[in-house]
Amino acid sequence: MCGIVGVLGKNEVAPLLVEALKRLEYRGYDSAGIATLDGGRLGRRRAVGKLVNLSDLLVHDALAGKSGIGHTRWATHGTATVANAHPHQSGKVAVVHNGIIENFRDLRAELEAKGYVFESQTDTETVAILTRAHLDAGMTPIEAARETLARLHGAFALCFLFEGEDNLMIAARKGSPLAIGHGEGEMFVGSDAIALAPMTDTITYLEEGDWAVLTRQGVEIFDEHNRRANRGATKIVLENTRIEKAGYKHFMAKEIAEQPIVLADAIKHMVAGNALNPPAEVDFAGVDRLTMVGCGTAYYACVVAKYWFEQIAGLPVDVDVASEFRYREPPITPNTWAIFVSQSGETADTLAALRYCRDKAAKIVAVVNVPTSSIARESDIALLIRAGVEVGVASTKAFTCQLTTLALMALKAAVDRGRLTPAELAQHIADLQALPGLVSQALRIAPEVAVIAEELAEAQDILFLGRGPLFPLAMEGALKLKEISYIHAEGYASGELKHGPIALIDARVPVIVLAPRDALFEKTVSNMQEVMARHGKVLLISDAAGVAEAGAGCWRTIAMPSVPNFLAPILYAVPAQLLAYHTAIAKGTDVDQPRNLAKSVTVE
Ligand code: F6R
Repeated sequence: MCGIVGVLGKNEVAPLLVEALKRLEYRGYDSAGIATLDGGRLGRRRAVGKLVNLSDLLVHDALAGKSGIGHTRWATHGTATVANAHPHQSGKVAVVHNGIIENFRDLRAELEAKGYVFESQTDTETVAILTRAHLDAGMTPIEAARETLARLHGAFALCFLFEGEDNLMIAARKGSPLAIGHGEGEMFVGSDAIALAPMTDTITYLEEGDWAVLTRQGVEIFDEHNRRANRGATKIVLENTRIEKAGYKHFMAKEIAEQPIVLADAIKHMVAGNALNPPAEVDFAGVDRLTMVGCGTAYYACVVAKYWFEQIAGLPVDVDVASEFRYREPPITPNTWAIFVSQSGETADTLAALRYCRDKAAKIVAVVNVPTSSIARESDIALLIRAGVEVGVASTKAFTCQLTTLALMALKAAVDRGRLTPAELAQHIADLQALPGLVSQALRIAPEVAVIAEELAEAQDILFLGRGPLFPLAMEGALKLKEISYIHAEGYASGELKHGPIALIDARVPVIVLAPRDALFEKTVSNMQEVMARHGKVLLISDAAGVAEAGAGCWRTIAMPSVPNFLAPILYAVPAQLLAYHTAIAKGTDVDQPRNLAKSVTVE
């Protein structure tokens, strides 16, 4: 995780570094720091906690200089302290790092044996001290960095700055993405192109194992064998405007409210009249099997989609979390399409799973929000979910846009495999086009949810239940709640409750039942009755007919608009999101940047 930035600029760099770090704060916010060269001398400022603490520090203790590097940290090795904050400096070298140096213990022992003293518990300081050792041995900065890189195992994006070298910066990438930005007499380095957007739109992406020597005049890139590499630059179209809350108290509230608009946009881009209009390469006719992979919320989107692809298109689907998939060595049969779902497109485990499938010659399909991301760039087909920038760490609009995109893909698969008549397809498309309106209606439950959330905030444990495609929604509801309210919550398949979790039920455990009035409704209601028979506090979320039929005896009920069965998982994301949001408000937690989390998980 962590975000890194580097600038060889024409003007003072501290404000540029802080602005870029703001755009990278989604990668972690345990601490932040910058180092600059002022008159050839390295200076550093570091602060624990959110970036605002570093900005405050710089107001009182400014840092001059036209060359600099910066970092926003998600702690991996060592707690969030100033000593562990990047940049790490040793003698004449300062380093920022995203990733994990796996052999840092061996390197540290070797350097300590030579008398070098460490000030932090991080893996990154090893990189700084090893480079310093190479400088002490008489190497030039470029030689020292090259020799250091050759000794590192693990995943890293690194940026080095050297005292006395005002026109030099070295960047390297292995496993963690890194972009080089080109300016007029200025050069930049960033964990992603978005960080560099205010400074340049001309980007070169480093490839695996590349390292780069930057001066204000340009960049020389070398591959993992230290051969000159020609990587070419691309023009990036990026939103350069500041991302604002637009009057909402939190980004999460804004992003929940935006869903009708972004869903309509996602649908518009894949539908033409009564027909589907995905990219031409999306043809499921010869596909025998899908493998779907994601993490967290994106994984739950995959699980919902499994129901759709199997039920509507008759296409078998394997689903796995990326961190398990990548080491499971699953066989990939011929004619398998591998679908990777990721909002950020940078999740390390998902990217590694993608590369595994690419090596097995599967067709790689990415369902992503960020078009310039690594996962989008490394796929055969990149399907954009068009959620717009999502800032809140808890994913909301990206989830419903992922689901909508996958629903459209399931329909396309059904058409390609001859499983839908034109009339059935037209009906599904009409239903999808009505979905943004239903989401608007569903958002009106917010005041009711806020009242219920006051009581949920007192709970220590909460269970979510759902059946069929509402089961993954139960897991998503629980994830959302625990992420931002810090209340322990679990999502279960309704029918699974009696196989163990029912032992948890007593009058203090709220049980939230997601049960649209579909073919499985009666069965879910039976499971709900089993909870109530044990004094469980049931919150039933169903449509008006479902609440009328089964609401008696529940602790609380919420009536949702009725929705075609196929689309219920998308609509029922709204109460799950609102319950988490209002419970977090009632508890007074940091909704947009909850503790211990980051928006993009770029370490495994
Ligand atoms: C939860 C959440 C995470 C992400 C997960 C994958 O609200 O946001 O569980 O869904 O870290 O991230 P992406 O989609 O960027 O790969």
